[in-house]
Amino acid sequence: MFHLGVDYYPEQWPEERWPEDARMMAEAGVNVVRLAEFAWSRLESRPGQFDFDWLDGVLELLGQHDIRAVLGTPTASPPPWVMDMMPGAYRVLESGQRQTYGNRREYCPTHPGYRERCRAITEAMAEHYTEHPTVIGWQIDNELGGRCYCPICRASFQSWLERKYGSIERVNGAWGTAFWSHVYTEWSQIPVPLQAGGVPNPGLDLDYRRFMSDVYVSFQQEQVDVLRRLCPGQFVTHNMMGFGFDQIDYFDLADTLDFVGWDVYPRTAWSLDRHVDGLASALGGDTIRGLKGRGYWVMEQGSGSGGWQTVGGTPRPGEMRLWTYQSVAHGADGILYFRWRTAHHGAEQYWHGVLDHHGEPRRRYRELQTTGAELGRVGERFVGAESRARVAMLLSYDSRFAFQGQPNHSAFDYSEFFRSYYAALYRRNVPVDIVSPAADLSGYRLVLAPALHVLPAAVADNLRGYVGGGGALVVTARTGVKDESNAVVDVPLPGLLADVCGVEVEEYDALPTDAEVPLEVHWQRGSEEGCSASGRLWCEVLSTTTAREIATYEAEFYAGRAAITLNEFGKGKTLYVGTFGDAALHDLVVGWALEIADVSPVVVTPEGVEATERWRDDQRLLFLLNHADESQEITLPSPMTDLLSGRGPVERVKLEPKDVVILEQD
Ligand code: GAL
Repeated sequence: MFHLGVDYYPEQWPEERWPEDARMMAEAGVNVVRLAEFAWSRLESRPGQFDFDWLDGVLELLGQHDIRAVLGTPTASPPPWVMDMMPGAYRVLESGQRQTYGNRREYCPTHPGYRERCRAITEAMAEHYTEHPTVIGWQIDNELGGRCYCPICRASFQSWLERKYGSIERVNGAWGTAFWSHVYTEWSQIPVPLQAGGVPNPGLDLDYRRFMSDVYVSFQQEQVDVLRRLCPGQFVTHNMMGFGFDQIDYFDLADTLDFVGWDVYPRTAWSLDRHVDGLASALGGDTIRGLKGRGYWVMEQGSGSGGWQTVGGTPRPGEMRLWTYQSVAHGADGILYFRWRTAHHGAEQYWHGVLDHHGEPRRRYRELQTTGAELGRVGERFVGAESRARVAMLLSYDSRFAFQGQPNHSAFDYSEFFRSYYAALYRRNVPVDIVSPAADLSGYRLVLAPALHVLPAAVADNLRGYVGGGGALVVTARTGVKDESNAVVDVPLPGLLADVCGVEVEEYDALPTDAEVPLEVHWQRGSEEGCSASGRLWCEVLSTTTAREIATYEAEFYAGRAAITLNEFGKGKTLYVGTFGDAALHDLVVGWALEIADVSPVVVTPEGVEATERWRDDQRLLFLLNHADESQEITLPSPMTDLLSGRGPVERVKLEPKDVVILEQD
């Protein structure tokens, strides 16, 4: 069954309204709700005083309409009594300031007392709801994240280091603490990188980011353990924040979950874009699917204008449906809209849901009804369908964390750089898997590894094996610069990948943000000859060992020197791009890489129409998503059946603005 639902907060509404809500949900095709992730004070009003009667009543009503429930453990927002019991559990920010009560996520994830209370409420809920016929699964906490720098975290970091390095001498060696005389003689001397400490040692900085990531993984794991023990028949997930969130290694966080949950908000008050082109949600979906290499659930899909103090643009007619199918197209097996009804109170008064404040059915409710009816008919076909991308991008949290401490260039941002390369694939309708640098790459024809800055030997070996075996690889500037301790390597760059790339970086140059160094392109495979491109932000002067030049610089003291190269290594090829460049350059490079790897788009579409696919055994499901405000026509390479209308076979498809067409091919 395809799960379609809403995030529901019955504790915020009078009990008399609940039957009406359940009825309206069922009439819209809702078959699942998420409940209780912010209801701790209603579930446990005082230490150990649990009240599940109200939630039992809600579940009973939902059950009468065949609506299932996912329960959230409510640990993202503690009631005042929890924090009163332990003032030391307030998170300390990087600035050194301790948080106070009044928002949510103000807790320190390391604090043993806080964790104890989290386990207790999780256990009480799990004992009560295990085997409940309406409860199918659990969501742990809500959007974990937020680094803490308190004394408890500091002590715990010191123990983490002791476990990792074994001896203080090894820490000193790895971090090179001879620099500025930072040689530690006791574990207790090791600080946390508070702002007041100035620029931290890069080794310490990267380890602290890894440590905080591990803290959240273990915080989540404590609740996973409780639920596995008490509720073996129910699934466990967590709602992550897609590609953009960069504080937790999501590969680690996903590891012990049954599947990953994700929150998708294409329109918010913080980006008042008239037009939403689908790129950010596509990237988020591919990232989330890549965490476990399989389908996910959207735990929160935007269904109204989003905003806290200010209000965002409302979804245009058709956009709720369009975004729903876009999530499905990238791997969603279940989707819940945030939120059922817009709140009268609280910080999110202006974060609109399916229903406005008044609770009457209006346009967005009717759009949910249409989508619910469609998914009721055909949704089952999508569940478990695979994405069979031939292209992978490597997302390295180590590199991401290292760049957070040292972006290398004031205008460089790892996430933006990654996004820009991804965009060049997205706009061509080339499906992409986003995977960890340690992943098995043998199934891919093309792998892009933007700025793989921290390069462990095992990852270099993985890439060497992949290219040697016939794969095509794109490597960029600032790759292989750091070892796992965030020390700069003592060999010419790109370090451990020099042989795979067939180049050495002779020297490098950081450019003023608005400067460009034109490139002369020597690409000779035909398609893009004579195009213009520029180096930006960062230019590496390359000397080729076994590679050949694809582009050379046309200015600066390195005019005539190689900027981009192509190397044959084993049975495969590596493109090395020695400048950060801009979107136009990334587009050009991606075009070359696809030619080298012989990968074609799933279908060619006009601008604004996204095309991607999922597979069920040998059956292909082609999704055409019109993000544009104009209608568009597409010619298919071969006749296919229109799944939603049942028409077929068709060879030419017309999409109205914001429309979706899903085609089936056997
Ligand atoms: C999400 C969060 C929800 C709600 C929503 C709107 O990130 O998980 O609880 O806050 O944003 O702001």
